[in-house]
Amino acid sequence: MSTNTVDNNRKVTTRRLVEMKARGEKISMLTAYDYSSAKILDEAGIDVILVGDSASNVMAGNVTTLPITLDQMIYHAKSVMKGTKRALVICDMPFGTYQGNPMEALASAIRIMKESHAEAVKIEGGSEIRESVERILSAGIPVMGHLGLTPQSINKFGTYNVRAREKEEADKLIADAKMLEEIGCFGIVLEKIPAELAGRVAAELNIPVIGIGAGGQVDGQVLVMHDMLGINKGFSPRFLRRYADLADVMHQAVGNYIQDVKSGDFPSEAESY
Ligand code: KIV
Repeated sequence: MSTNTVDNNRKVTTRRLVEMKARGEKISMLTAYDYSSAKILDEAGIDVILVGDSASNVMAGNVTTLPITLDQMIYHAKSVMKGTKRALVICDMPFGTYQGNPMEALASAIRIMKESHAEAVKIEGGSEIRESVERILSAGIPVMGHLGLTPQSINKFGTYNVRAREKEEADKLIADAKMLEEIGCFGIVLEKIPAELAGRVAAELNIPVIGIGAGGQVDGQVLVMHDMLGINKGFSPRFLRRYADLADVMHQAVGNYIQDVKSGDFPSEAESY
């Protein structure tokens, strides 16, 4: 099989992602938060489904990712698992469930795995959360790191601008990425950092580096499904490529439905019992 070809039958595992990187096969990843979307993404051949805490924004309408709870993430992940056969499903650990207390981090990760059946967790941060990551890994739970722009820290950053443009922050990011690989993470997301820096990290690590707004020299890409399908149109950063305009399609379809109901055209005899 040539590289970049979808193998629709073989289950994607964390181990397989590392193999994909080793042979230069790019990894595709999208978010989903519900059964029906997950089923579509899985059947289309996506490699990884992320049950992102971006659900806080696009599902619940919150301004940040901070308010979403562990119970809500478990609910979303459980629904996604039911719609997924092939893709690897990773669930974000929400804000406040892992920082500062490794035992609480472990308990949160165990709840995600036990109650949702997700196959891995993703967690934001570097050296500050090392002990939490180690504790989760010690229970046999696969962990994906997340560095660069980490939206749970928006109140510290103050903006969603590109991160790690300055040497000091870039050096810390490289050190954090190496540390996460060393302690046993199976992959890392790099969000909104210079492409050259992301490429350097990907070249130095053996585990896959998935980028969002991190250029093309990484091992795979992730986008928020609602953004790339044009369902959520209020978000247009430079890194976002829109593959559809589903908000317009839905708007049009709903408009037609309303018109048919009002005119009495729907339902027809054939649509009645
Ligand atoms: O929550 C999310 O959707 C994410 C991606 C942006 C990587 O963490």
